[in-house]
Amino acid sequence: MKSAVCADVKWEIVIADESHIEPAAASLSGHMDDGQRRRFRDKLSRYVYKTDRDLALALQGSRILGFYTVIDYDDLPPEVPAAVSNRLHDYACGTGFLVHPDYRRQGIGMSLHQRVERWAGERGKPGFWLSTRRQAEWFRKHFAFDEVARVVVKGIERRIMAKGFAAVA
Ligand SMILES: CC(C)(COP(=O)(O)OP(=O)(O)OC[C@H]1O[C@@H](n2cnc3c(N)ncnc32)[C@H](O)[C@@H]1OP(=O)(O)O)[C@@H](O)C(=O)NCCC(=O)NCCS
Repeated sequence: MKSAVCADVKWEIVIADESHIEPAAASLSGHMDDGQRRRFRDKLSRYVYKTDRDLALALQGSRILGFYTVIDYDDLPPEVPAAVSNRLHDYACGTGFLVHPDYRRQGIGMSLHQRVERWAGERGKPGFWLSTRRQAEWFRKHFAFDEVARVVVKGIERRIMAKGFAAVA
């Protein structure tokens, strides 16, 4: 298991393996109905087993505080202008991110996001993009993301946020 321990050792960020799937699904699905919970568990499984993606978890001992799913490549929504889609084509993508409501505003979200940006960099990805309803400002403020498009999916406006990684000389 690959892991990164935060400086203050209040929690650690790990790349999940098979043993984390059930506890993560149980801990983080309290607000979901049965169908959503099953789909969530299936999603976590795919992120553990497939080689083009990973599931990062924030752990405090055996307690699971948050998750982040990240993938090598995902299609941009079709509403995004072609010039933007082409620019982000090789970027890694964050596809799910949640910190348990009891553990927010302690820096766990930032440490999860730092870990998945590192994941993307280690895979040679030139940048990172994601789609968000409410957290555009958080990504802008803490991680220097730019809004590159706004799309309406199933009647809900989402912001497409992206950042390119600085080229290493
Ligand atoms: C967005 C989300 C993942 C952030 O997780 P988090 O663990 O609360 O994130 P952090 O603690 O790193 O940052 C949140 C805030 O707490 C602040 N903070 C960080 N450490 C802190 C500490 N020790 N004490 C007080 N505040 C702190 C941060 O500065 C940040 O402030 P801001 O909101 O003014 O920018 C979480 O709110 C969440 O799960 N939301 C619901 C799902 C969601 O929106 N997911 C994102 C979809 S793209």
